[in-house]
Amino acid sequence: MKQLLIVAHTPSPNTLALCEQIRLGAEKADTDTVHVSSTSAFDTTPEAVINADAIILFTPENLGYMSGALKDFFDRVYYPCLELTQGLPFATCIRAGHDGTGTQRAIDTITTGLRWKTAQPTLLCKGEFHDQFLTQCHDLGAYMAIALDNGIL
Ligand SMILES: Cc1cc2nc3c(=O)[nH]c(=O)nc-3n(C[C@H](O)[C@H](O)[C@H](O)COP(=O)(O)O)c2cc1C
Repeated sequence: MKQLLIVAHTPSPNTLALCEQIRLGAEKADTDTVHVSSTSAFDTTPEAVINADAIILFTPENLGYMSGALKDFFDRVYYPCLELTQGLPFATCIRAGHDGTGTQRAIDTITTGLRWKTAQPTLLCKGEFHDQFLTQCHDLGAYMAIALDNGIL
C-alpha cells in the first residue's frame, strides 16, 4: 500500500473540523492502493515521513508563522529526512484568521530545502470561517489520495 500521511496541528474546533475533512476526503476516495494516516505534528516521527509516499501538512497561522507544533515537526524531521525524502509530493492547508502569507513563505522555504515536490497549490482557508472551507479540505484530501493511487504523484 502507498502511504498518505497527514501531519496536522488542530488546536481549535474549526481546525479540527477542517483536518477531519481532509482525512475523510482521502479515506473515502475510491482508491485501491492508498492507506491514510493522520498524526499530530508533535507526534509525527522521521520514520513516518520516510515511509510516506505523499504528505499533507495542516497548520493554523499564529503570530505570522506556522504553529509551533508544525515547526517542531520540521525541526525534528529535517536532517533525518533530508537525504531520504527528496521529491516527496506534498500539499499544505493553512487556516488563517486574516493573513497566512508568513506561514506560506516559511513552509515554502523549508520544503524547498527538503526538496519536496508541490502536489497542489496551498489551500488557504482565510478570514471568517466558511463551510466552503470544509468542502475544499475534503477535495484536497480526495485529490491527494486519488493522485497517489493513479501514480500521478
Ligand atoms: C495567538 C494567536 C495568534 C494568531 N496570529 C494570527 C496571524 O498572525 N495571522 C492570521 O491570519 N491569523 C492569526 N490568528 C488566527 C488563527 O489563525 C486562527 O484563530 C486559527 O487558525 C484557528 O482558526 P479558528 O479561529 O477558526 O478556530 C492567531 C490566533 C491566535 C490565537
